Amino acid sequence: MPFFSGRCLSGAKLIGKTAIVTGCNTGIGKETALDFYKRGAKVIMACRSLERAEEAKTYIEKACNNLSDTGKLVIMKCDLSSLKSVRECAQEILDTEPQINILVNNAGVMMCPKGETEDGFEIQFGTNHLAHFLLTMMLLPRIRNSTPARIVTVSSKAHTRYGINLEDPNYKNRSYSPAEAYSQSKLANVLFSRELATKLKEHNIDGIHTYCLHPGVIKTELGRHLNESLFWGAQVIIGTVLRPFMKTPELGAQTTIYCAVDEKCADETGLYYSDCVVTKPSKSGLNDEHAKKLWDLSVDLVGLGDFNPFTAQDPGLKK
Ligand SMILES: NC(=O)c1ccc[n+]([C@@H]2O[C@H](COP(=O)([O-])OP(=O)(O)OC[C@H]3O[C@@H](n4cnc5c(N)ncnc54)[C@H](OP(=O)(O)O)[C@@H]3O)[C@@H](O)[C@H]2O)c1
Repeated sequence: MPFFSGRCLSGAKLIGKTAIVTGCNTGIGKETALDFYKRGAKVIMACRSLERAEEAKTYIEKACNNLSDTGKLVIMKCDLSSLKSVRECAQEILDTEPQINILVNNAGVMMCPKGETEDGFEIQFGTNHLAHFLLTMMLLPRIRNSTPARIVTVSSKAHTRYGINLEDPNYKNRSYSPAEAYSQSKLANVLFSRELATKLKEHNIDGIHTYCLHPGVIKTELGRHLNESLFWGAQVIIGTVLRPFMKTPELGAQTTIYCAVDEKCADETGLYYSDCVVTKPSKSGLNDEHAKKLWDLSVDLVGLGDFNPFTAQDPGLKK
């Protein structure tokens, strides 16, 4: 356990609010969903495995069964390695949820062996960045009608290790490195959150704030691909070496929760956090030219076409 670990001390309630958390059947996403549920929110658990999401929902409900004013947990299928699945999930939310007050882009994969998403993107860039980009863009017209709202994107300190290759983000013409690809996808998270804040300001949209963060080093299932991508036994060896420095998932969720609910950062936007305080990302994470290029590239890759999420009309609920 680290000597210092930031905590969200806010007692803010979320009664009447709706929060979406991607990848919340385990790890820090599950702890984030639990916290929002305790605060009274309706939490949409956007997960790829309905079975695992159901287990997490049961766990959360049991853990809170003697509390009052808890919220509601709703499971929706969302496989971030498929843009079709992301579109279907976004559509289901738009059809059924009158408001979206908090969106947490949490799900992630780390250091996978070389692979592609259903749409042919490098698996980490596609899952960690492009899918969350599309989800956020599709939901933005509803979020614009739900202010004050916060969009929180979970990145990693790993974003500082390498850069982003905007000519070949999907490793079509260069040799693949699992660590470099993870770092690139997490840098994309930082640049996305920053550029989203800029674009909201440019469109004079008030009341939607963006946050990006490093959650710490946490004992979760994130290292599940290490044996395949490094060497057999890597998961156990690295886990053992890092154990004294690792946070529990509950502590690992604190910076996400802080960014999503705390009054102290309510007026901040476009910044990067660690242990519940604003921190500087890497120099690459402050590169606005790259942020704009990544934005335009992402618009093309996910096929947004003429859809402008900053001006598009809210499609309304399905009657
Ligand atoms: N743990 C750390 O030390 C650490 C450090 C820095 C940053 N982070 C970031 O924190 C976030 C949460 O990670 P974690 O540590 O909680 O890891 P985790 O325990 O492995 O949880 C990851 C979550 O993402 C989901 N996910 C993976 N691929 C998905 C897909 N294609 N579609 C939908 N959901 C998918 C997983 O679902 P399944 O269970 O179905 O696979 C799971 O719910 C990630 O963005 C990660 O990069 C973690």
